[in-house]
Amino acid sequence: MAEKEVMETSEAQIAVHWGEEEYYHPSPQFIAQANMTDADIYDRFSLDNFPNCFKEYADLLDWYEYWDTILDTSDAPCWKWFVGGKINASYNCVDRHLAKHKNKTAIHFVPELEEEKVEHVTYQELYVRVNEMAALLQDFAGLKKGDRVTLHLPMSPELPITMLACARLGVIHSQVFGGFSGKSCADRIVDSGSNVLITMDAYYRGGKLIDHKEKADTAFEEAKKEGQTVDKVLIWQRYPGKVSAETPMVEGRDYFVNDVLKDYYGKRVDPVPVPAEDPLFLMYTSGTTGKPKGCQHSTGGYLAYVTGTSKFVQDIHPEDVYWCMADIGWITGHSYIVYGPLSLGASTVIYEGVPTYPDAGRCWRIAQDLDVNIFHTAPTAIRALRKVGPDEPAKYTYHFKHMTTVGEPIEPEVWKWYHKEVGKGEAIIVDTWWQTETGGFLCSTLPALTPMKPGSAGPGMPGIHPIIYDEDGNELPAGAGKAGNICIQNPWPGAFQTIWGDRDRFVTNYYERYCKNPDSKDWRDWPYLTGDAATQAEDGYYRILGRIDDVINVSGHRLGTKEIESAALVVPEVAEAAVVPVAHDIKGKEPDLYVSLKPGFEATDELAAKVSKTIVDEIGAIARPRKVWLVSDMPKTRSGKIMRRVLGAISNKADVGDVMTLANPEIVEEITKMVQG
Ligand code: PRX
Repeated sequence: MAEKEVMETSEAQIAVHWGEEEYYHPSPQFIAQANMTDADIYDRFSLDNFPNCFKEYADLLDWYEYWDTILDTSDAPCWKWFVGGKINASYNCVDRHLAKHKNKTAIHFVPELEEEKVEHVTYQELYVRVNEMAALLQDFAGLKKGDRVTLHLPMSPELPITMLACARLGVIHSQVFGGFSGKSCADRIVDSGSNVLITMDAYYRGGKLIDHKEKADTAFEEAKKEGQTVDKVLIWQRYPGKVSAETPMVEGRDYFVNDVLKDYYGKRVDPVPVPAEDPLFLMYTSGTTGKPKGCQHSTGGYLAYVTGTSKFVQDIHPEDVYWCMADIGWITGHSYIVYGPLSLGASTVIYEGVPTYPDAGRCWRIAQDLDVNIFHTAPTAIRALRKVGPDEPAKYTYHFKHMTTVGEPIEPEVWKWYHKEVGKGEAIIVDTWWQTETGGFLCSTLPALTPMKPGSAGPGMPGIHPIIYDEDGNELPAGAGKAGNICIQNPWPGAFQTIWGDRDRFVTNYYERYCKNPDSKDWRDWPYLTGDAATQAEDGYYRILGRIDDVINVSGHRLGTKEIESAALVVPEVAEAAVVPVAHDIKGKEPDLYVSLKPGFEATDELAAKVSKTIVDEIGAIARPRKVWLVSDMPKTRSGKIMRRVLGAISNKADVGDVMTLANPEIVEEITKMVQG
């Protein structure tokens, strides 16, 4: 698709343009206890002090061998951080806290069903369980440093335990969001070359027990078709007997972890010191093609960055109870439920279920009961909670000192409700803008230092230097308030190292567009393309407008339009498919799907339902379109290209503009009538 057209069909195009908002300031009480109150930090992390400034982050960790080179650019743009250093992430998140905090809760696990018991896993228990699981992975599953293992686990303590057990051995974990289908899981097994799949029998969602094991069977079969054999499927068993009868175990392949683990009770495994640059995990994310890409994150750089940002932006102290309501299957959960908070020795909350289950007060009851004082969620959840229970927070006695919003732009009025009702006017808010690729925050205010402005992410993080380019590669003047493509001028330790197995795609997708010299080894020549549009106001604050490419942000999760279109094309009757983002009052955006059929097939409700179901089977329920519109033809240019811009305007009830130059302008009216009535 031509670049111009990409821009015209993107999310950024339907972004709401909010006016400038007033500032909100932190309370003196917050400032008095904050981890970062030193205004010098922005100077210390200026470009003049780059890259040495990031030593401050590395020094928050324990190293087996201290690094000698802070940034190695010899393989540009695959940057290497803290070269020469040896480290272990599991040691940093578990072992090092035992001396002072072994009896402190590391993980509070809240099951969705209120009648089930809340689990409080201390650091000592975490240490024991991580060691036993590491022993099992090593001796029973035969995993060793550098191997990849696919995890398809729902929200439960077993997920971080498994991640940390992998990290202990230097095994690279690739956790697939639990809500993704077996087929999606298979794609990631194949791409990462995993021989072991770790999953769970079942979990609760919205009050319903979900048979999760059946997805593993699909994943196994689909991966096999692609030539990747999974030797062992390890199943954590949470509800013995409840679902396994319907999804029988395959002998010689399927094992209940709980049973096998008995042989490893009491076992200890020394953490394996790995070079800082060894990958810690893969996290697949959607891009502009049908195939998700495996973002490869390092051990030393990543852990340093998430530890530093958890400390300075999340303001986590060891005595805090911190609750990030994301799913660990996404990057937010990896960085800001597991690695960042545990590296700092905090108590992190894992909630299994739906925020509004069984009622609109659930979140605030959890906050009250666990005495949560730091809360982290996405605008989608905030909008939903505001809609179903605007007055609920006031009924509970909890006190947040700090709250985060992440993943999508937040409307100022929603921000204000979050501040006044959820934060009770006391909590500071950080709006953190970042991505799966970036490992940690790119833009945010520093809670005690830079005031909040509803709807704006804030300035670049210390050591992160954004720049906005126009379509022709010209830099927009700082503070110009004009929209353009936001890039980052410099590397940072949390950034992904490459796309697993596809360096070319890594370079093309993220660095080619604004690269000043492809032969250069100087980081200054390689601005990182984020794929977002943004403006920068005079005060230096960035406002993120949305994606400039074929990616849609649904409820704070990334979906590739091409991915959904490819899934629709699996249905034999479908000739063409086009996905456009449509605004939604809770989810932010939703995919709307237009489909034309091959000759001889009739447009029926059953067929539309079949297309929708196929997308859910191929990707997962999160990708289910708002509506499948079966159209007699797509609006097309004379050269035969589908005009997604026109479809997007119809779905969003916006002006379709001049369509007379299309090959088939009459179709626009027909589709408009169908969609808008
Ligand atoms: O468009 C931006 C949006 O989410 C995209 C990244 O999605 P993902 O890789 O799934 O990571 C989500 C969690 C970090 C970005 O390219 N986005 C993320 N945070 C914000 C945001 N848009 C506006 N404001 C934010 N705070």
